[in-house]
Amino acid sequence: MLTVYDVIAKKRDGGILAEEEIRFLIDGYCAGQIPDYQISAWLMAVYLRGMTAEETSILTDVMLRSGDIVDLSQFRHLSADKHSTGGVGDKTTFIVAPLAAVLGCKTAKMSGRGLGHTGGTIDKLEAIPGYRVSLSEKEFRAQVEAIGVSVIGATGDIAPADKLLYALRDVTATVDSLPLIASSIMSKKLAAGTSSIVLDVTVGSGAFMKTQEDAEALAHAMVDIGMRAGKRITAVLTDMDQPLGRTIGNALELEEVIAFLQGDDAGLDDLREVSLTLAAHMAANVHGISPDEAYRRAYDAWKSGAAYEKFVEWITAQGGDRTWLCDPTVRKSAPYAYEVKAPCDGYLAFADAEQIGLAAMQLGAGRKTKDDIIDMAAGIRMYRKVGEAVRVGETVAVLYTSDESRLADAEARFVSAVRYSDEKPQRRAHILGVIRGDEIEET
Ligand code: URA
Repeated sequence: MLTVYDVIAKKRDGGILAEEEIRFLIDGYCAGQIPDYQISAWLMAVYLRGMTAEETSILTDVMLRSGDIVDLSQFRHLSADKHSTGGVGDKTTFIVAPLAAVLGCKTAKMSGRGLGHTGGTIDKLEAIPGYRVSLSEKEFRAQVEAIGVSVIGATGDIAPADKLLYALRDVTATVDSLPLIASSIMSKKLAAGTSSIVLDVTVGSGAFMKTQEDAEALAHAMVDIGMRAGKRITAVLTDMDQPLGRTIGNALELEEVIAFLQGDDAGLDDLREVSLTLAAHMAANVHGISPDEAYRRAYDAWKSGAAYEKFVEWITAQGGDRTWLCDPTVRKSAPYAYEVKAPCDGYLAFADAEQIGLAAMQLGAGRKTKDDIIDMAAGIRMYRKVGEAVRVGETVAVLYTSDESRLADAEARFVSAVRYSDEKPQRRAHILGVIRGDEIEET
C-alpha cells in the first residue's frame, strides 16, 4: 500500500516517482487527506532532487485535472493561446491577439490580474471604459467564433491543485524549482483548452528568469510538457532587462498599443519585434506554415491596419468605449506628472525592469497586496531607453499619479533603477531564442 512517508522518502533519496505515487500525493492533498507538513517536505525533496521530464509531465497532468478543463474543441486546430512568464510594460497580448485573429487563429483567452512589479492583462483592459472582463461562457464562445478573439478574466476553477501547492511553495522556499514552475504554468495553460500554445519566456531583470540559461531550461521543460500533452507549442525567449515599449501602467500601456496598431512604431522596435514574432509563431503552429512566412503575414496585418480594426472590433464587442479607443482627447491623464531629468551627458546604460515596475506600482499602477485599488492613469513613460543618448537636464522619464504623496518614493526608486555611461552600451537582441516543439527531441 502506498504511504505518503514512502513517497517523500523515495524523492528525498533521488528516486523517480511513478504516476500512481504522484497522483496519490496531489489528489490526497487536494482532498484534504494529506497535511501541509508532508507536502512541504515532498516539495523540498523535489526542489533538491528535481524531477524527470516524465515526472514533471505527470505532475502537470494531475494538477490540470484537479479542476475545470475548458473545452475549445469547437475551434478545432485553430485555437491558439499565448502566455508570458511575466514582465514590465508587457502589453503584447493587446497586439498579438488581434494580429493572430487576422491571421485566422481563434484566441479564447483567460488572463489574470497583476501583483507586485508586473501588471495584469485584465487590469489593463479595465482601463478602457465599459470593457467587460466577465462574459458568460456562451458570449465568450460566440465572440471567438464570430471575430476570432476574446479576453476575459479567469473563471471557474482552473487547476486548484496549483493554487494550493503554490501557496505552500511560497512559504517553504520552494518556488524556484524548475519542474515546479514549469508544471505550475503549464497546468493552467493546458486546462485552458487550446490546441496550440506560444510561450513568451522573458529573460532579465524584470523577468522570473534572470539568466538566458535558466530561461532556456524553463522553456525546454514547458515545451516538453506541451508536446507530451499533444499540443503544438513554441517558446520564444524575449528580453526583459528593461521594460517593453516606453510605457508602464494600465491606461498608458493601452494608449501605446493603440498608437502602435495605428502604425506608429517610432521608438518601439522592441514591442514590434516581440509582438510580431509571437503572433507569427501562433499562426505558424495553427496553419503549419514557416515562421518566416507567418512573420510576413503578421507584418502585413499590422502595417495594413487590419490588426487595428480587429482590435477595435474585439474591444467594442466586449463593451469597450469606441470613442476612448479612437479619440485620444477624451482620455483622462493623471493630475500629477513629474519629469525625471538626466544628471549627465551620455547614454542610458541600464534600466532595471523590476525596479521600474515597482516604481510604477508605488505610483498606483499596480498592487502591493491583492486588495489594493489600481490608479488606471498612474505609471511611467520612458523618454529614453537603453542605448539612447541623453544630455544633462533632458527628460528621461515622466512619472504619473493621481496621488501626489506617492511621487517622492517612486522617484527615488526610479532614479536608483537607471544607470548612465559615457560609451554607447550594447543592446541585447529583443528575441533571444526560439524553441519549437516540433524541433526538439523528447527526453
Ligand atoms: N508563475 C506560475 O504560474 N507558477 C510558478 O510557479 C511561477 C510563476
